[in-house]
Amino acid sequence: MRILMVGDVCGRPGRSMLREHLPALRRAHAADLVVVNGENAAAGFGITPSVYEELRAAGADVVTLGNHTFDKKEAMALLDEEPRLLRPLNYPPGAPGRGAAVVDAGGCRVLVMNAMGRVFLPILLDDPFRAVEAELEAHSGRYDAVFLDFHGEATSEKEAMGWYLDGRAAAVVGTHTHVQTADERILPAGTAYITDVGMTGPADSVLGMNKDAMVQRMLRQLPTRFEVAEGRRQLNAVVVEVESGLAREVQRIFIRE
Ligand code: FE2
Repeated sequence: MRILMVGDVCGRPGRSMLREHLPALRRAHAADLVVVNGENAAAGFGITPSVYEELRAAGADVVTLGNHTFDKKEAMALLDEEPRLLRPLNYPPGAPGRGAAVVDAGGCRVLVMNAMGRVFLPILLDDPFRAVEAELEAHSGRYDAVFLDFHGEATSEKEAMGWYLDGRAAAVVGTHTHVQTADERILPAGTAYITDVGMTGPADSVLGMNKDAMVQRMLRQLPTRFEVAEGRRQLNAVVVEVESGLAREVQRIFIRE
């Protein structure tokens, strides 16, 4: 069984890149499950019903989010309506939606989870380690494999999560930094790990946003309007081959126009 995870889809360029490449990628890697991080899919910030539908129509089986989950107010109702749209599971109790879903992938029940780190992030959620543990317990006996999108800034926190779940998850895949890391590997007890899958969207940008505006922001420290960049695009992803709940192989995918 193979899981394909596409890194942070950024705005319209990211969505078009996904639409154009995902069907062929899915075929080429014989993916049984496609997870897409869509927290930057709506003009760089958050998600809306139409953008969510677009990601699903492009081939996403599950859409995960992160610190921009609630940037668009429509996300509140959408999260309650769509069981395959996940927000970080470590939001304090009472948040709309859910952070995990059990999805069938080629006869394998995959518990897909989305959690968010607490190091160097502007939103302070509950402890992701304990929250992941509680989610595993809540779904005990109802899944064959675990896939975690860990949305975080700090490499240390993401590596720690990889080790925490080694042997218990098929994959711990980092998102959020928008820069793909070259550290993909299978940890000793069988969990595929990568610190960051990367970003799908504008290549000549600062993390997907207009580079000139970002340079001005750095130079002047004045408020700048952030817009999704235009021009060349890229797609970043990772594919994990899973057997008996653990990873057999992990491979990075980087497409740039
Ligand atoms: Fe993020």
